[in-house]
Amino acid sequence: MMQQKRVYIETYGCQMNEHDSERMLRLLESFHYLETKDPKQADLILINTCSVREKPEHKVYSALGRFKRLKEKRRTIIGVAGCVAQQEGERLLDRIPYLDMVIGTHAIPALPQLLGKIEVSRERVCQTSFDQNGKYLEAILPEKPVAKVKSYVTIMQGCDHFCSYCIVPYVRGREKSRSSREIIGEVKHLAEMGVKEACLLGQNVNGYGKGSEKELSFPKLLQRINEIDGIERIRFTTSHPKDLSDELIHVFSELKKLCEHIHLPFQSGSDRILKRMNRGYTKESYLEKIDRLKKTCPAIAVTADAIVGFPGEEEEDFKQTLNLMGTVQFDDLFSFKYSPRKRTHAAQFPDQVEENVKKDRLSILQNIQKEITLQKNQALEGNVEEVLVEGQSKQSDRDVTGRTRSNKIVNFEGDLSLVGKLVPVRITRAYPHSLRGESVRSSVFQFRVSEL
Ligand code: 5AD
Ligand code: SF4
Repeated sequence: MMQQKRVYIETYGCQMNEHDSERMLRLLESFHYLETKDPKQADLILINTCSVREKPEHKVYSALGRFKRLKEKRRTIIGVAGCVAQQEGERLLDRIPYLDMVIGTHAIPALPQLLGKIEVSRERVCQTSFDQNGKYLEAILPEKPVAKVKSYVTIMQGCDHFCSYCIVPYVRGREKSRSSREIIGEVKHLAEMGVKEACLLGQNVNGYGKGSEKELSFPKLLQRINEIDGIERIRFTTSHPKDLSDELIHVFSELKKLCEHIHLPFQSGSDRILKRMNRGYTKESYLEKIDRLKKTCPAIAVTADAIVGFPGEEEEDFKQTLNLMGTVQFDDLFSFKYSPRKRTHAAQFPDQVEENVKKDRLSILQNIQKEITLQKNQALEGNVEEVLVEGQSKQSDRDVTGRTRSNKIVNFEGDLSLVGKLVPVRITRAYPHSLRGESVRSSVFQFRVSEL
């Protein structure tokens, strides 16, 4: 019998990375690895990284530093996966002498073979070639029922947009969509395993199926997933404003399971900066799309990403960003200081903004958004919201936690028998990052809903 081994995975960055970590874990489980949350117990440590911005990239190197002692003590195998692995390749092996393995963004399916090589010969390995056959997109399915209520499902990967600041097209490759047959098969399988919410993932989900006449369009794919028994909720991320079609906006009013939430990064409110970013839309056309979304689905929550201090950004450009935020009133905003990324156009622009200006702008923007987010949350006080319960709350054993359809976190008193259930919850108190509520009987909920 094969000896049981333990793997510890540390993940930085986006949902795609979180999902990749889960896929690596599933793959390793069928090769006699069990997950451990304690790196000291691990036979294998994987650091799954992000290089989209500077901050998560630095974390990789500090994590590697932390694990050096373990390597010396236990001969733990150490690997780096994800965007930094893809970007740096062999250079990472040269730079970190105790690193055993570099797994590029398309190399996840090869993980067992790479590991086999190391175990047999202690050879150091690196795989960063792009796979033209799309094997890296294939599902790695759970064999047993999963304890999870939500699951990510990759529908496409890569990006063809080449925004001038962004490294994604270089580290994830060009857009490639999975076949709808495979995606639908995976969602059905997940539903059978107990998953209630499917979050469809891709760097540019509205580019789904592009270039393939035979494939379903993204709105049609959503319709088909909406028909799958057992799945109660559908979400997707991330959308590019340029590719957000009227057909896609329309499905928000049509599909019952599609949650009223869209993440639609705007990056900047200044047309001049948007042009230099190569975003392909203007502030006005972005606002028009938001308008159409809100008209089609008045309850829709809108979140976005924004960058401050992009090269050449003047006070006036920054004001336009604040102005756009004031107009849209985002439910939440993920905001970043621009960081130059290797190989991207914007890194070569001569008019880089000073670090302290970026810092000040970020802080002004975040303070304004904090207020807006709180007000948005406060507007829900007294409402009854449908909450999909995900598990025990971190704050109290007596509470469970879940999310509204608009993706807001709600904590309320309840036990673990509620996990996986849709519970009507009256919102009693709003906080900046979550809501407090109390469960109400379903008859009351139905009455309320029919009142609307
Ligand atoms: N600098 C700062 N933020 C960036 N993002 C992408 N590239 C950069 C960069 N070079 C942000 C964008 C994107 C999010 C995932 O990360 O806002 O939407
Ligand atoms: Fe990067 Fe732009 Fe593609 Fe988004 S759309 S992944 S920001 S290149």
